[in-house]
Amino acid sequence: MNINVKNIKQDFPALKTKINNLPLVYLDSAATTLKAKPVIDRLGEFYLLECANVHRGAHYLSDKATQQFEEARLKIKTFINAKSENEIIFTSGTTDSINLVAHSFCEKYLSPGDEIIITQMEHHSNIIPWQVAAQKSGASIKVIEVTESGELSLESYKKLLSSKTKLVAINYISNALGTVNPVKKIIDLAHEEGAKVLVDAAQAVSVLDIDVQKLDCDFLAFSGHKMFGPHGIGVLYGKEDLLNSMPPYKTGGSMISTVTLQNAEYLNSPQRFEAGTPHIAGAVGLAAAVDYINSIGINEIYEHEKSISDWVTNELKRINGLRVIGDNASKINIISFDIKGIHSGDLGHLLDQQGFAIRSGHHCCQPLMDRFSLAGTARVSVSIYNTKSDLENFMVAIEKCKELLL
Ligand code: ALA
Repeated sequence: MNINVKNIKQDFPALKTKINNLPLVYLDSAATTLKAKPVIDRLGEFYLLECANVHRGAHYLSDKATQQFEEARLKIKTFINAKSENEIIFTSGTTDSINLVAHSFCEKYLSPGDEIIITQMEHHSNIIPWQVAAQKSGASIKVIEVTESGELSLESYKKLLSSKTKLVAINYISNALGTVNPVKKIIDLAHEEGAKVLVDAAQAVSVLDIDVQKLDCDFLAFSGHKMFGPHGIGVLYGKEDLLNSMPPYKTGGSMISTVTLQNAEYLNSPQRFEAGTPHIAGAVGLAAAVDYINSIGINEIYEHEKSISDWVTNELKRINGLRVIGDNASKINIISFDIKGIHSGDLGHLLDQQGFAIRSGHHCCQPLMDRFSLAGTARVSVSIYNTKSDLENFMVAIEKCKELLL
């Protein structure tokens, strides 16, 4: 069934913005999606009518806030098909989730000589936490290579895997290339060596039907703001036994059973990892974002985004001097390209003047840019509120930019 983009556009008032009297076409959803009105309404309702702290007060509003917060956890559990709500930890976003694992898992399980495997196509947030963990523990980092077509080399991965591998950290969808990685295969191979796997699902969560039990990943991280939800809220999924074997990342209120001035006994997950007052409204807003996605249908979202991004990829490839970076069949909703003789920043600026919002630069993926010998790319990312006609207009704008810049 096709999604009704005309109706969906009404849920995103930001799309009524005019730039130089031209309608805004937002093609930067990989950076952050626009926020759906039902999510904003829910946030407003929470702050206006239900605001209190959670897990603390014995009063009506506190009970209500606690109930909404825990219902949000349950909603996320169902959304990614976790076994238990105890496996859902609220964080401030993907970066925070990855840092939590890099700190807590590595403190407990990494020793000198151990190895962490990452890929050449990771976002900096899935590289630097492992560098720090490796420096602290004496472990080392190995890197899965990326092929010319922007895919992970499974051959290179198999050569890296060994009994020394303790953790593999990979993205589900590359934020710079749009490649959908074969995470199930990567997870199964890692498990054969006894290694754990963290999946960075920041770009995947709004478009792929994620089932953590089927994937059998050990950790999965994502952000609310890339799925039409609020900024500053995210999720770390982890297998319950594993989480309960790890030390806390942050300490403070709400994560202990007893405290003396000398010692503290920690609660189990998720409280163990949620010290302090959490982003309660964020969690409630995230639950509204899940409802919003479900009301459209994640498979319908996939079909829509795949079809318009395949269309624009093929159109872009017709342009003389334009190279799609990482051109492969698995790509979805993100297209990175380079036009010979044009700086991606200049292109982004000229497109902006015509109402088209794209991202240019290294996309927080400098090692990947080095792989392709580029300083940066122009990146178009599409979402549920983009139509083929938006992209037809975008193609006209690109031709215009080419005439002006070359
Ligand atoms: N990770 C975000 C992006 O790719 C910010 O743009």
